[in-house]
Amino acid sequence: MPNTVAVLNQKGGVGKTTTTINLAAYLAKAGHSVLIADLDPQGNSTSGLGLDKQALRTTLYDVLFSRAEANSATQKISSKLFILPSNANLAGAEVELVSVAEREVQLRRALAGLNYDYILIDCPPSLGLLTINALSAANSVLIPVQAEYYALEGLSQLLSVIQQVRSALNPGLDILGVLITLYDSRNSLSEQVKKELENYFNAKLFTTVVPRNVRLAEAPSFGRTIIEHDKWSKGARAYKALAREVEKRTL
Ligand SMILES: Nc1ncnc2c1ncn2[C@@H]1O[C@H](COP(=O)(O)OP(=O)(O)OP(=O)(O)O)[C@@H](O)[C@H]1O
Ligand SMILES: [Mg+2]
Repeated sequence: MPNTVAVLNQKGGVGKTTTTINLAAYLAKAGHSVLIADLDPQGNSTSGLGLDKQALRTTLYDVLFSRAEANSATQKISSKLFILPSNANLAGAEVELVSVAEREVQLRRALAGLNYDYILIDCPPSLGLLTINALSAANSVLIPVQAEYYALEGLSQLLSVIQQVRSALNPGLDILGVLITLYDSRNSLSEQVKKELENYFNAKLFTTVVPRNVRLAEAPSFGRTIIEHDKWSKGARAYKALAREVEKRTL
């Protein structure tokens, strides 16, 4: 059974996609087979890995609506890294799913039986039906939180949705961890937010903190993970360390 992790925060631009791509890359580098499920109609993890969103013939959208098998939509990025890609077609799913029987568990059905060590789900910045599908399909949730003033706002709503999905649809759902992203050591606010998160999440907070690092921001424009773009950058070292922590927590 794969370890299926939903990378989720309903707040936009907090580093979900950057975390999904680069955590996946380091898990794959360590020898694990990894599938990224791009559950965001923006398709940022799809394009960030070098795929042309417009040229996709089969996507996660087709798989969600049982029009294609997961394996036939999957694309290989490297020997251990794969992606179920998405593009703007997926935007319709939020509405179309409403009329589907068992609409909350279509992703779980679609991913059932796949043979990977890890499946990382890159969620959209919302708490809609696509995200509920991610939470129903996952074993655990990784929550990236940007080290800024409003970081904690919205987290209690997110935790309450996780709790609701746990009791209604997915009793085994766990929080894998909370990850501080876009950390700026020159900004005293970053340190303050870090302290608050430590107090609130204790051991659930990953020890690894992802710094604000321009190399991480550049990599997707070349369609590359940080390993190919600049493996010696601070950002690369952070995601490598995160992969070790995730391995330990998912043993
Ligand atoms: N640690 C970092 N250092 C510098 N830039 C970063 C870092 N993490 C992410 N970024 C940049 O910040 C922007 C938002 O990051 P990302 O796309 O990963 O967030 P997201 O949560 O997936 O956004 P969305 O909610 O739109 O899906 C992107 O331009 C990305 O390249
Ligand atoms: Mg994203």
